[in-house]
Amino acid sequence: MEIRDATADDWPAIWPFFHQIVAAGETYAYDRDTTSDRGREIWMLDPPGRTVVAVERDATVIGSAKTHPNQGGPGAHVATASFMVDPAHSGQGVGRALGEYVLDLARAKGYRAMQFNAVVEANTRAVALWRSLGFEIVGTVPEAFHHPVKGYVGLHVMYRKL
Ligand SMILES: CC(C)(COP(=O)(O)OP(=O)(O)OC[C@H]1O[C@@H](n2cnc3c(N)ncnc32)[C@H](O)[C@@H]1OP(=O)(O)O)[C@@H](O)C(=O)NCCC(=O)NCCS
Repeated sequence: MEIRDATADDWPAIWPFFHQIVAAGETYAYDRDTTSDRGREIWMLDPPGRTVVAVERDATVIGSAKTHPNQGGPGAHVATASFMVDPAHSGQGVGRALGEYVLDLARAKGYRAMQFNAVVEANTRAVALWRSLGFEIVGTVPEAFHHPVKGYVGLHVMYRKL
């Protein structure tokens, strides 16, 4: 597996798993009926944002991440990031590799910290992964996410210094 910058041509390969993950409504506070065009706007970032893809040897895109300043101006020294791994390839270390890659990118860019704004507390896989990459939960907004199965659950703000 290799991680590289995404190009506009990668969107058709990202869209099927982006759509699957967003339509499930369990992990992102995006509209579940988000269209491909809207998804492209959300995910494919221009500088200072950056979008990367994880690709297999045969060039199949199996995951993607995006990172950008979490705030503007006086808040722009803290990065944020989002991650999606094709569910057909989950549990194979792709999310961890993307997480480590994005942390390295942010460090290289001189960000002082990384903050995740809305990690669904029921998303135990993601919470465990981010904790193992050095993030801590700095707070939880109660019942801020309406999970299709679990009902109202909290959204964690997770943070780590770089
Ligand atoms: C969360 C996500 C990015 C993880 O990617 P992944 O490639 O499946 O994760 P990895 O294989 O790298 O596993 C990373 C860690 O997840 C945790 N994990 C893996 N499988 C798990 C499971 N079944 N239950 C709980 N935790 C699990 C472990 O901590 C694992 O660490 P390890 O490397 O020590 O085993 C991916 O599942 C995904 O895209 N989910 C949908 C969208 C999403 O939730 N994005 C993140 C929003 S905050």
